[in-house]
Amino acid sequence: MALSNVTPVLFHLICLLAHAISAEDCPKMLLLGTEFPNFTANSTEGVINLHEYLGDSWGILFAHPADFTPVCTTELARVVKLMPEFEKRNVKVIGMSPDKVENHQSWAKDIKMYAGVSEDSSFPYPIIADEDRSISIKLNMIDMMEKNKEGVPLTARGVFIICPKKLFRLSILYPATTGRNFNEILRVVDSLQMTDKHPVATPVDWKAGESVMIQPSLPQEKANELFAGTHTVTLPSGKPYMRMAPQPAIPN
Ligand code: BEZ
Repeated sequence: MALSNVTPVLFHLICLLAHAISAEDCPKMLLLGTEFPNFTANSTEGVINLHEYLGDSWGILFAHPADFTPVCTTELARVVKLMPEFEKRNVKVIGMSPDKVENHQSWAKDIKMYAGVSEDSSFPYPIIADEDRSISIKLNMIDMMEKNKEGVPLTARGVFIICPKKLFRLSILYPATTGRNFNEILRVVDSLQMTDKHPVATPVDWKAGESVMIQPSLPQEKANELFAGTHTVTLPSGKPYMRMAPQPAIPN
């Protein structure tokens, strides 16, 4: 049997053995633009049904290997500080870790202190308790290189963006040893919200306010109609595919 066939089989077996879950729960590849898997889970804000909780908002689900760990604490604190930015963009954020709710609640005090917010303030977003790690497995977030004391693979730092139609729009999977950059996540939200409304795309390292690119499929006559101030970059190939436009409004 080819190695490419063996590896998924091994992973499947590890899932079954390590977590005693059914075959249907084993990971399937998520495809961009398809419905994001729904689930119901316990959290610091009670039982959450993901799709119901998100309602008409965009959603960001971000997972962590464990409570009371240093990198995770810095990440959750950064999200606390960035709450006004998420709210401005109509985004609900949800944290997740494979610990129990009581631990999350106690950990939240550390996170608030690290974020520099009042200890009396309520924690601004829910943290899901993925105790049996069924969500981590369902969403392909198991890191086979990072293991806990018992030798069980950790949940990776997965981050998922879900649009109001409940479609899966982005995922980035970071290893336990690398903290995320939540400014990058906000940058992607800006790009997604704008490109959902306008036939444009955002170039490398784009930030809100900078020029955008007209999507290759848009005919030039239509581009002239839709965007004032476009220009085409001259390239050695002579092909007029790099069409720039001022940034249209970002909704929300
Ligand atoms: C952390 O959050 O600091 C961490 C968690 C698991 C492995 C390595 C680092």
